[in-house]
Amino acid sequence: ETKVIEVDPLNIEEEKIKEAAQAIKEDKTVVFPTETVYGLGANGLSENAVRKIFKAKGRPYDNPLILHVANVRSFLEYTYISYTLLEKIERLLPGPITFVLKKREIVPNIVTAGKDTIALRMPAHPVALKLIEYAEVPIAAPSANVSGKPSPTMAEHVLKDMFGKVDYIIVGGKVEFGVESTIIDLTQGKIPIILRPGPIPPEKLKEIFGDIIIPDFAYGKIEPDYIKSPGMKYRHYAPNTPVILVEHDDVDTMVKKVLEEVKNYNNPIVLCLKEHVGYYKDHNINFDTIGSEANYYEFAVKLFEMLRKYDEKIDAMIIEGIEDKGIGIAVMNRLRKASYKIV
Ligand code: TXA
Ligand code: MG
Repeated sequence: ETKVIEVDPLNIEEEKIKEAAQAIKEDKTVVFPTETVYGLGANGLSENAVRKIFKAKGRPYDNPLILHVANVRSFLEYTYISYTLLEKIERLLPGPITFVLKKREIVPNIVTAGKDTIALRMPAHPVALKLIEYAEVPIAAPSANVSGKPSPTMAEHVLKDMFGKVDYIIVGGKVEFGVESTIIDLTQGKIPIILRPGPIPPEKLKEIFGDIIIPDFAYGKIEPDYIKSPGMKYRHYAPNTPVILVEHDDVDTMVKKVLEEVKNYNNPIVLCLKEHVGYYKDHNINFDTIGSEANYYEFAVKLFEMLRKYDEKIDAMIIEGIEDKGIGIAVMNRLRKASYKIV
């Protein structure tokens, strides 16, 4: 049975983390909070433990996992990396970013789905860091959702998806970012390639790496022809209730498009920017806010929560989009992939 442990990230009771860390040492599965989304973890050096992750999630074995570490030294232990590159990476650690690098022998093939590269991440969440430290092994972890659902950003999401399927769930409140880590591939020549946009925006990466490649698929606009991130070949989460995405534009254009779409459904909800509330109030339209023009981080942290909240409760979600800048690139990538129609 699943044991639920509640921790306050601002005042962590060490004994609770030690108990979960002991479970990791015993090849058990532990759901834990990170600053992006909740992860479903197990000992990343144990094939037996990692297999339990795939089973709990219903994840295909050819979709590799991210290995979570608690210090910079681990990059030397699990990957082949030059000191010059490590110095650059260090500036982003710990944080919501994952690096694809050449893997060392010690990393089991089940983690990397047989590939010769490994996705490594040092999370910034205090609970995640302590768990990895006490476990004394790197923790392999995908997002803690059932395959095909949005990543969990709140305790109730992990309890719903994972209770009864894992050994431990560490509940540690709401996450900070709400979209999964930025993934960059450092194995294809000199210029890093963004495989998945996330909280660390391209501008920040350019500061550090000089140049960066953002393929079209990173915007979620086209299906990837070049399948670098194997996870991308699986159908991305699409709610059962159709999502209609209205691309960002000036207010009048967006509101006009939303009102057009509203007419097509009996019981739709409009998920709008705070600044636009006035336009829908007067039309007697069912709406909720999903963030504001002034703060894209707020949109990111509410995105998966809203998709879960309204799925199957109404007959359409008509969502106002934001600009492809900063964390907005990550938000729009997830939204375009979840959409049934984009206007
Ligand atoms: O924020 C996050 O990254 C969260 C938290 C828990 O750390 N984790 C997460 O894991 O989003 P997951 O498994 O849901 O997404 C990992 C993605 C998958 O699309 C997978 O295909 C890709 O990373 N990936 C893993 N190893 C890879 C590799 N060697 N090369 C390219 N892509 C890889
Ligand atoms: Mg995932």
